Amino acid sequence: MSLQKLARDVVDRFVKSNQIIGLGSGSTAAHIVREMASLPNKDSLQFIPTSLQIKIEAEKSGLCIVDENRIPDIDVVFDGADQIDSGFYMIKGGGGALLREKILISCAKSVVIVADATKFVPAFSRSVPIEVHPMARTVVARKLSEQGGRPVLRTLEKGYPFVTENGNVILDTTFASIADPVKSEMELKNIAGVLEVGIFTRKADAYYKAKQDGTFDIMRP
Ligand code: A5P
Repeated sequence: MSLQKLARDVVDRFVKSNQIIGLGSGSTAAHIVREMASLPNKDSLQFIPTSLQIKIEAEKSGLCIVDENRIPDIDVVFDGADQIDSGFYMIKGGGGALLREKILISCAKSVVIVADATKFVPAFSRSVPIEVHPMARTVVARKLSEQGGRPVLRTLEKGYPFVTENGNVILDTTFASIADPVKSEMELKNIAGVLEVGIFTRKADAYYKAKQDGTFDIMRP
């Protein structure tokens, strides 16, 4: 119920008529999409989803989904996150939609992130999803190891490799620490065969922190 209240606030505060809106993926983004369904100006809005998961949610809510080629015009992106550190950098890609999420976030006029309080951490403490071309899987894994990472191929429950909607695989890579997220993002992205890195260093315009007691804080770094 509290996430629903928060999603209502997000939509009321940030959605304006005639906008082109980018939709991140995951359960939090789905809450926001469901709140859009009851907007009186819904028909004036156009949406670009980052995955089939959120596209289906948008379809169920009767939202107008537009051609991906409208990407340069995006007014606002709504998304979740897997971790947010004290500098408001993020790790994303837990659901595998990092490549499309980063494209939208990199070019949107504004970005709004919603996450529960447990995802706000002093420093990153989870693996970084790294999307890799299947052909480069072993060579990238070796280079990540040389850079101090411990890459693990993401698999489904029965052991099959997880394949992204772009036809790639994900190496969930643990690092002892990520002291400089901007540098790490650039260095990892620079490995041939890496399509995208789950370290997101473009800061959002607003971060909603959903607290256990049902209230929330809005932070604007
Ligand atoms: C999708 O690949 C991720 O980047 C999501 O934004 C992230 O995993 C958050 O998902 P939840 O809102 O389901 O926690």
